Amino acid sequence: MRILAIETTCDETAAAVLEDGKRLLSSVVYSQVGRHKVYNGVVPELASRAHCEKIAPVIAEALAPALANPRKGKSPVDAVAFSCGPGLPGGLVVGKVAAETVASLYGVPVIGVNHLEGHLYSCELEGDKVSRPLKFPLVALIISGGHTELWHVRKYGVYRLLGKTRDDAAGEAFDKVAKLLGLAYPGGPAVEKNAAAGAGELRFTKPLLPGTWEFSFSGLKTAVSYYLRDHENADAGKVCAAFQEALISTVVEKALAAAKSCRVGHIAMGGGVAANGTLRARLTGEAAKRGVKVSFVERRHCADNAAMIALCAWRMTRAGAGRNAPINPALGLRNWGR
Ligand code: KG4
Ligand code: ZN
Repeated sequence: MRILAIETTCDETAAAVLEDGKRLLSSVVYSQVGRHKVYNGVVPELASRAHCEKIAPVIAEALAPALANPRKGKSPVDAVAFSCGPGLPGGLVVGKVAAETVASLYGVPVIGVNHLEGHLYSCELEGDKVSRPLKFPLVALIISGGHTELWHVRKYGVYRLLGKTRDDAAGEAFDKVAKLLGLAYPGGPAVEKNAAAGAGELRFTKPLLPGTWEFSFSGLKTAVSYYLRDHENADAGKVCAAFQEALISTVVEKALAAAKSCRVGHIAMGGGVAANGTLRARLTGEAAKRGVKVSFVERRHCADNAAMIALCAWRMTRAGAGRNAPINPALGLRNWGR
């Protein structure tokens, strides 16, 4: 079975084709970051326009290997999946219309996929292969520019939301701190790079919110802004290191406490912030001390992509749950596993 998937929730226009849930025939990502850089953040209207402009060429490129390898008596793909939320409304509309158009041309079904579930299943990808199956039960840490959430995952498609951020997502906090320091957008990689040279005595309070699985990063960002206001010649490296340390140790502590409380031996981490080397090393190291295994998404699949949407659609199809869905910018977790 070949699934074409389309991803347009934020500022990446992406399409991918997955064959038999095993191998990617293609994964094409057009990043709009260059268009949003000057504004230091994603401008929704510009994002929608860029999706409109790029969606057809991106889909054409993703379909090329499937078209070059026709299967006798079959259409080039057997289903078309798309991210139906959460995300920016303008992008979601483009993705849905594109998916339904291609699907109706080929006479195949449409599958709506939760973008955040895609980030979880991206952990199963190894290059263009699906060769690292998740081990259940597990705690999922989905950590990106728009979301920071902890889930208990009993098996494919069976979730319980433990907690999410009350305000800024972790990636958003990285981006805002980078902006305060005049660093390039997106801020995560820039803050990480500066932090590497800046470890020192400076500390910011960890926003732990004891007794809950929720997160809150806006106070930490405000603490950074007050520090910069009061220290005109602050060392950017030291500020980045202290901010990153407070954020990462909070996230790691909470993920491990969640694993302990849910009595699970695995943690899976996906999303753009999962590219952070310090976070990867800290989570693995601390988890190992407690006998917990961590699987995280490969760096190349951290940012938004359609390969992860195709893989989630494949898992849903196997469970008999692959079906069309309305777009929902605030889509929450829904169970489909059996
Ligand atoms: O998953 P993603 O591509 O988009 C969303 O779904 O939000 O994540 C993008 C976010 C941005 O906020 C970016 O600054 C952050 O991931 N990010 C990082 C790193 N690389 C990207 N944050 C911390 N360290 C990094 N190395
Ligand atoms: Zn994402």
